[in-house]
Amino acid sequence: MEKLVIEGGVPLRGEVNIGGAKNAALPVMTASILSPGENIVSNVPNLKDIATMGKLLARLGIGFQFSGDKVTLKTDNITSVEAPYDLVRTMRASVLILCPLVARMGEAKVSLPGGCAIGARPINLHLMGLEKMGAEIHLTEGYVHVKARRLKGASIYFDIPTVTGTENLMMAASLADGVTMLENAAMEPEVVDLANVLIKMGAEIQGAGTSVIRINGVENLKPFNYRIIPDRIEAGTFLAAAGITGGDIKIKNCNFSHLDAMVIKLKEAGLIINQESDGVRVKGPERLKPVDVKTMPYPGFPTDMQAQFMTLMSIADGTSLITESIFENRFMHVAELKRMGANIKIQGATATVRGIPSLTGAPVMATDLRASASLVIAGLAAKGTTVVDRVYHLDRGYEQIEEKLKPLGAKIKRIR
Ligand code: EPU
Repeated sequence: MEKLVIEGGVPLRGEVNIGGAKNAALPVMTASILSPGENIVSNVPNLKDIATMGKLLARLGIGFQFSGDKVTLKTDNITSVEAPYDLVRTMRASVLILCPLVARMGEAKVSLPGGCAIGARPINLHLMGLEKMGAEIHLTEGYVHVKARRLKGASIYFDIPTVTGTENLMMAASLADGVTMLENAAMEPEVVDLANVLIKMGAEIQGAGTSVIRINGVENLKPFNYRIIPDRIEAGTFLAAAGITGGDIKIKNCNFSHLDAMVIKLKEAGLIINQESDGVRVKGPERLKPVDVKTMPYPGFPTDMQAQFMTLMSIADGTSLITESIFENRFMHVAELKRMGANIKIQGATATVRGIPSLTGAPVMATDLRASASLVIAGLAAKGTTVVDRVYHLDRGYEQIEEKLKPLGAKIKRIR
């Protein structure tokens, strides 16, 4: 198993390029199922989750090729409609093949994902939407089996805004018969990116990026060539890394408008962040200030940045309250941060973080993707050596993070 060894205490300096958004690339790849032909997605990050999605699409009979930052998907022949457990359990985003398969093939069989490290994460809202669109749904032997001759437009209200649920149903509705209204839809930039791809394919979609999306189903869609948006969470993670080390870096290839809530909160914590012509410049303060944060659906503060922000607050000059309102078990990093000296108490969905002057290096264990990122950031700021174990979690969502940190001066290496 691979580990990252970090000698902390070096302020980061220099420039870093942000890659494409994993959570935009995954649904865009599954959108290729909707039409036969050759599809090209560019600015795709070279990540474990992208490889897993490639494997899954290949099992459906789709030609998958990944070269440079380009993924080519040949979708003329779909030979299977099944997403097996061995792939779904390693990546929940596998569920994104459900609606495109039903829309094009009239059928899909997808293993139910089961719980995961950050919460129960059911898919009941995806299924509710499909049922409203006239699909027949059966749950057997851990699989959800969905059938529909042609889906029908429907009015669908989400009790909770769900990112992949909105994406799945937007794809279903694009080929359905009639108009679908998605109400209380997720507004994340990744949802908008998928809508832009679908529109390029010929779909009629209005309102993506707001809470009400209207989709007028069409008979056919055509293949696409699309460049996906930069990864706002990777960008936020580098902002946090610069801030906690008292560094001064420029973040290139990111979309500043997608970072709003993060930038506001990081500025409150004392970071100086400015948009310049060729990127975003960020400088860390002498000492961070305490700031309360509550995670919310976009445009609120992202749950995918909660762990990283908490690491910053662990050495702030005072006490902050961090409330996680999206996932019920997303505080797994707390026990590890405590091993590095952090003073954090959890009560229900809120963590009380009492800032200490500095963290101390320690061996720590990554538990999920963003928790791993928070531990790397902690290691960069800590006194002494931090060894982050189970780096495979990190590799699901960050492209060779150590290779991006080294040129910024970080003392970090990967060992087996
Ligand atoms: N929910 C339900 N029923 C559903 C769907 C969701 O109760 O049918 C609940 C979830 O349990 C959760 C809330 O709704 O409490 C929001 O979950 P959402 O469905 O929005 O999450 P997701 O679509 O499964 C995506 C990202 C996550 C990110 C969340 C929230 C992808 C592939 N994944 O997950 O990314 O944390 O939205 O923004 O887009 C990550 O990249 O580290 C990651 C976990």
